[in-house]
Amino acid sequence: MDMIWDTSIFLGKFLYYFLESVFYKIIPKKKKDVAGETVLITGAGSGLGRLMAIKFASLGAILVLWDINEEGNMETYRMVKEKEGVKAFAYTCDCSNRQEIYRVADQVKKEVGDVTILINNAGVVTGKLFLSTPDDMVERSFLVNALSHVWTYKAFLPAMMKANHGHLVCISSTAGVVGINGLSDYCASKFAAFGFAESLYIELRVLKKSNIKTTIVCPYFIKTEMFHGCTTKYPFLLPILEKEYVAEKVLNAILEEQTYLMMPKFVYFALLLKQILSSDMLFALIEYLGLDTCMASFIGQSKAGEVQTEAERKQL
Ligand SMILES: NC(=O)c1ccc[n+]([C@@H]2O[C@H](COP(=O)([O-])OP(=O)(O)OC[C@H]3O[C@@H](n4cnc5c(N)ncnc54)[C@H](O)[C@@H]3O)[C@@H](O)[C@H]2O)c1
Repeated sequence: MDMIWDTSIFLGKFLYYFLESVFYKIIPKKKKDVAGETVLITGAGSGLGRLMAIKFASLGAILVLWDINEEGNMETYRMVKEKEGVKAFAYTCDCSNRQEIYRVADQVKKEVGDVTILINNAGVVTGKLFLSTPDDMVERSFLVNALSHVWTYKAFLPAMMKANHGHLVCISSTAGVVGINGLSDYCASKFAAFGFAESLYIELRVLKKSNIKTTIVCPYFIKTEMFHGCTTKYPFLLPILEKEYVAEKVLNAILEEQTYLMMPKFVYFALLLKQILSSDMLFALIEYLGLDTCMASFIGQSKAGEVQTEAERKQL
């Protein structure tokens, strides 16, 4: 009897949420107002982080900018302050260091107040074949791309829980849902970031903290320094995304309180294929899409200065 009742409730909810999602596909959700919200962005000193900071500033949010690169972060600070009346605070913070995250977080709480929108965006990439990746670079990938999310949640989530108000944003990657050749440490750390954010999303729902929203973002390659040199074979299926486009989509997803955002749309389809195709069929698809060679001409962040030769990449 219980099972019949449970199943009826489940099917009722399923149908309701299905119709709701179809409705919102036709009529976009009302966007939330972020004026006066305190938005912390890690990795705000360049690329996507900088663009998101500029967009949030134009909506009247208070900005807290974190980056290990003081110069880049100050440049973002100057850019957001160009708009009159914007409140912004820049902090140099090495997100690979737990103690430093906690120290700077305490400083933010004292000087700015509670963070209500946390965007974990700082990221690093090694871009070497697995056996050529030094151990410290593997560790750095996990520390920055995944573990920093855990420490920032520990620092800022308690106040969100108390107020039952907030938004947690995880910038993962397509490499956080699909393994990509030449990106083993990056993929592993981005899968970890995705899993952590998704698990907390469920935990918060179970704890009935439904006003703390989560947005998990998985973009394919973006035209920033990070994956400089990478290629795509069929841009109409897997384009290298414009950073302005990605920043706008992320902003919209946050304002519409969307939980998952994959870009481009083909990634949703690829994920479905991953579940249903045989591994050989999947590998044929990987070759067809050029995902086996997309990292072959990788140059990456210029500051890293670690351009790999073809010989180095092949050394396994
Ligand atoms: N560029 C892409 O193709 C792509 C694709 C998918 C996902 N992403 C993700 O998007 C996010 C933004 O990347 P981006 O493309 O703007 O790259 P980016 O290199 O322009 O920005 C990354 C920022 O993180 C900062 N950072 C690095 N290590 C840090 C540390 N230890 N502490 C604090 N800050 C640190 C850098 O200084 C830089 O400002 C990253 O998480 C990245 O993994 C990027």
